[in-house]
Amino acid sequence: MSVHKPSDKKVTTHRLQEMKERGEKIAMLTAYDFSMARILDGAGLDVLLVGDSASNVIAGHETTLPITLDQMIFLASSVVRGVDRALVVVDLPFGTYQGDSRNALQSAIRIMKESGAHAVKVEGGEFVIESVRRIISAGIPVMGHLGLMPQSIYKYGTYAVRATEEAEAAQLLKDARLLQEAGVFALVLEKIPAQLAQQVTAQLHIPTIGIGAGPHTDGQVLVTHDMLGVNQEFSPRFLRRYADLHTEMTRAFASYISDVKANDFPNEQECY
Ligand code: KIV
Repeated sequence: MSVHKPSDKKVTTHRLQEMKERGEKIAMLTAYDFSMARILDGAGLDVLLVGDSASNVIAGHETTLPITLDQMIFLASSVVRGVDRALVVVDLPFGTYQGDSRNALQSAIRIMKESGAHAVKVEGGEFVIESVRRIISAGIPVMGHLGLMPQSIYKYGTYAVRATEEAEAAQLLKDARLLQEAGVFALVLEKIPAQLAQQVTAQLHIPTIGIGAGPHTDGQVLVTHDMLGVNQEFSPRFLRRYADLHTEMTRAFASYISDVKANDFPNEQECY
């Protein structure tokens, strides 16, 4: 295994742009708390996403819809305190930016002021473009998100691959260009055919970051709990597991229980 040595320089939206230009891939993972953020940042991740996937992973909801702005701000401020180098991007949760761009700006301002994060992410293209423009006009960097957009799950009815049909692929390309023109600094492409992700990546000058979108995007993102194997039930094709923490943690908990029951913990050295 080759170990990547990250530079000490803080990651900014400009550095991500430079990485695209020199062909260096961007490594992004989700983070929802201080301790994990410290480990991820120390390991050299370029971007930490405080994703609204926290609604599933942390809060146990079936979808990303219930998580609130206050909850996202609490998680994001915990992550920010654990980071020295990575760029911290925070999802604007469902209902805080669609429909009314003034409301969108207020939501983004709250995230930036109250969490100390560096950027926000929004799902959607044409239908959120006014919100994107207004947030960017206030000097807040915005990351876009197209393809599978979990906040629209009740519109799709399924988490299947998106944009396999020509019309949806054409709309995605159009949305990607619109977002770039509006000034987003990067674009997440979720669960779309690899060839389409390659086409989008070639057409945009801003970096693309894929999840289930093949190898040709400028970077990759996964949900940290998924790649660590904390949750064994979720195993889509695109997910590579880098650890089996579910088994490892279950083993540790079982050992602890058995030590406590056997009065083997604490021992003499573990007492005052
Ligand atoms: O909320 C999230 O974790 C995300 C990633 C899957 C891109 O949006």
